[in-house]
Amino acid sequence: MESNKRYTITSALPYTNGRIHIGHLAGAYIPADIYARFKRLCNNDVAYICGSDEHGVAISIRAKKEKKTPREIINKYHELIKKSFLDFGISFDNYSRTSSKIHHETASEFFKNLDNKEIFEVKISDQLYDPRENQFLADRFVEGECPHCGFEHAYGDQCENCGSSLSPDQLINPISKISGAKPIKKETKHWYLPLGKYEDFLRKWFLNGKKGKVKANVYGQVKSWLDQGLESRAITRDLDWGIPVPHKDGKGKVLYVWFDAPIGYISSTKEWAKKENKNWELYWKDKDTKLIHFIGKDNIVFHCVIFPAILKSHGEYILPENVPANEFLNLEGDKFSTSKNWAIWLDEFLIDFPGMQDSLRYTLTVNAPETKDNDFTWKDFQARNNNELVAIFGNFINRVFVLTHKYYDGLVPNIDKLNEIDEQTLEKIYEFPNLISESLDDFKFRQACNILIDLSRLGNKYLADEEPWKLYKSGDLERVKQIMYVSLQACGMLAILSEPFLPNSSNKISEILNLKKPKWSEITFDKPILESMKKINKQSLIFRKIEDDEIEGQIKKLNS
Ligand code: MF3
Ligand code: ZN
Repeated sequence: MESNKRYTITSALPYTNGRIHIGHLAGAYIPADIYARFKRLCNNDVAYICGSDEHGVAISIRAKKEKKTPREIINKYHELIKKSFLDFGISFDNYSRTSSKIHHETASEFFKNLDNKEIFEVKISDQLYDPRENQFLADRFVEGECPHCGFEHAYGDQCENCGSSLSPDQLINPISKISGAKPIKKETKHWYLPLGKYEDFLRKWFLNGKKGKVKANVYGQVKSWLDQGLESRAITRDLDWGIPVPHKDGKGKVLYVWFDAPIGYISSTKEWAKKENKNWELYWKDKDTKLIHFIGKDNIVFHCVIFPAILKSHGEYILPENVPANEFLNLEGDKFSTSKNWAIWLDEFLIDFPGMQDSLRYTLTVNAPETKDNDFTWKDFQARNNNELVAIFGNFINRVFVLTHKYYDGLVPNIDKLNEIDEQTLEKIYEFPNLISESLDDFKFRQACNILIDLSRLGNKYLADEEPWKLYKSGDLERVKQIMYVSLQACGMLAILSEPFLPNSSNKISEILNLKKPKWSEITFDKPILESMKKINKQSLIFRKIEDDEIEGQIKKLNS
C-alpha cells in the first residue's frame, strides 16, 4: 500500500449549462472521489481538484434559451452543481470556476507563454458567419449533416451520433442555431495549435509509455487519433463570451473553451494552495507528483492529446500519469437527454430518497461503465440496495450490534484465546485492506466495491456457521465471546474500508463503534480494530429497504 506520495487528482470540469445527473456522477466524479479518499486514507498528499467550466458556446445557447445573460446562467448552475457534489460527498479539495480572476490570468499567461515561443500558427481562413445576426458561427452555434454518418443534427465541433470531431465547415447544409439563417463565409484570423508537430512526442510518451498502464478503451482511442494523423486546431474563436485573446490582434476574439478549461485544473489548484498556504507548483511541476485525470470517454482526446501537447509546449509541467476514462451510462436502455428530460437529476433524487446518497453511490460503482457502456435501471437500483446493502452488508452489522447489546450490554467482550477457525477468519479479514487497495490502484472500482461486500459476506457466513445464539442458549459463554469478538473486528474493518465507497455509512458505523478510523497503512494483524471492553453505542439503521411502489413511482415519473 503506497503512502507518502503526492497526487493531483482531477474530475472533468462540468459545463454550467444545466444540472448534474447520475450519468455525470458515474463517469467522472464517483470514481475520482473513491480514488482521492483512498489515497488520502493511505497517507498520501492529495489535491483533488475540480470546478465549473463556464465558457463555450453551450453556455451562450443556454442563456438564449432561458432569456438570461451568460453570467446569470453560470451563476445559477455553478451554485446548483456545487451543492449537488457536496450533497453526494464528492470530496474535492477545491471546487473553483473558470470565470474567476485567477483562472483568466492563468489561462491568459499560458496563451502568452506559448505565443512568445511561437508555438502557434496564425492563419486567415473562411469561417461560417450568420449574415442576419452579424456573428461568426463557432462550434455549437451551427448544426448540419455529419459528413461521416449522415446524422442531421451534428454540431460544428462534434457529431454526437458517431462521436467524430468536426469543424463547422465540414457540415453538410449548415444552419445557424441562432437565427436559422443559412451561413455565409467570411475571412477571419485565428491561432492554431499545430498538433502534427507533436506526433512523435505523443507516440513515445503515450503509445509506448502508457501501453498496458492505461485502460484499453483509452489507449485504443488515442492510437486511432494518432494513426489518422493530427491536424492543427484553432484555439481561438470569434465569440463574445470567454477569455479575451491576450494579443494586439485579439479584439472580438476569445480563447477556445477547450484551450482554457483544462488550464482550469491548474488555476483551481492555485486557488486552493493560496487558501491552504501550500505551494501549488509542487502539484503541477514536481516530477514525483502523479497527475490523474478522471473523465468520460468523450473527453479522451482533450486529456491525452491536446492538453498534454499544451503542457509539453510550455515545458515546466508534468504530464498525466493516467487518464481513467469511463464509457457512458445509459438510463433504462436509452441515452441520457436533457432536452427529453430523460435523466435522474441529483437534486431530485435526494428529495425522493433523502439520506440515501450511499445507495446511489454504491449502485453507480458496482454498475459503473468501466469497460463498456452500461445501463442504470430503477429495478437494479432497488435490487442492489435491498439484496446487497440491506440484506448482506447492513444485515451483518446489525446482527453483530444487536447481539453485542443483548449479551454484553454493548461492550466488546474480553477473550483469552481464539480457536483455529477464528484465527483463520481474522487473518482473512485483515487481508481486505490490501485486496481493495490493489483493485483501486488498478482503477477497478467495481471489483473493489464487490470485495467490500465480500467482507460482509464473510462475516455473515462466519455467524451462520458458528451460531453464537445457539451456544448462548446452551451455556457455552466463553465460545460466544470469541465469536462476537471476531465478528466485531469484521464490523470495524467494514467501517474503515467502506469509507471511499460509502462515506456516510462508514461514518455512521464508526460513530456507533466509537471507532477513530486509522489510516489504512496503520492496520496490522497484531492490533485489534476494536479493543476488548470498548463501549458500542445503540445501533441505528444504516441502510433501509426500498419498496416496490417507490420504484414504480420513479419509472412513471421518468416516462411522464
Ligand atoms: N466541460 C467539459 C464537458 O463537460 C469537460 C471539461 S474538462 C476540462 O465535457 F478538462 F476541460 F476541464
Ligand atoms: Zn456522425
